Amino acid sequence: MTAPPGRLVVASPDDVIAHSDELVEIYAEAFSQPPWSEEPSRVDMFRRHIPAYSRRKGFAAVFAEGDGQIVGFALGARLTSAAWWWKDVASRLTGSQVETWLADCYELIEIAVLPQVQGKGIGGGLHDRLFEDVTTKTALLSTHPKADRALSLYRSRGWKVLIEDFLYSPVASSRLIMGFELPGS
Ligand SMILES: CC(C)(COP(=O)(O)OP(=O)(O)OC[C@H]1O[C@@H](n2cnc3c(N)ncnc32)[C@H](O)[C@@H]1OP(=O)(O)O)[C@@H](O)C(=O)NCCC(=O)NCCS
Repeated sequence: MTAPPGRLVVASPDDVIAHSDELVEIYAEAFSQPPWSEEPSRVDMFRRHIPAYSRRKGFAAVFAEGDGQIVGFALGARLTSAAWWWKDVASRLTGSQVETWLADCYELIEIAVLPQVQGKGIGGGLHDRLFEDVTTKTALLSTHPKADRALSLYRSRGWKVLIEDFLYSPVASSRLIMGFELPGS
């Protein structure tokens, strides 16, 4: 039987490791498109980081399945001061913003959908299912200022821009840091 497009499945850390080749393939296809136009070296970096992501506190993953294959995924974990970009974000916020946004925070690590099935609600579904189980007060993500579809998705869910021109070493162009206050927090 063929699964409906975008059936959502909560995945364990072991599932993520077992399916990492498929996740890397989706990442490569989604992020090779503009505005990201990522180089193969960034794809390799994602591949290398998967085991470390899967060991992080509060790690969670959701896969979207269609026609017997994974067509999209979302990964998240708690954001703590151990994360390499925590310090960079904190240095751009006021003391009270650090308390509000970083004290009890989740990170949307990555969300990606195969280009041929984007724009059909799969990304929104992945986002919403991932956050169903998140219990922190806030969440943070980094995105491209011209990633229109991602920005529509985030804005419609209540994410707002915290830092406009965030620069960090693996990428040459600036990124947006967006924050989300979880309902009921
Ligand atoms: C961002 C991404 C995960 C969203 O997944 P998706 O399946 O395409 O998302 P959806 O179909 O749920 O649409 C998301 C929103 O974009 C809107 N949208 C659809 N097509 C659009 C377009 N061409 N331009 C702008 N917005 C668009 C939708 O209306 C939807 O908003 P809504 O939730 O308010 O209705 C996916 O497009 C992707 O992988 N992009 C490349 C990688 C990326 O940018 N990842 C995010 C990194 S931070």
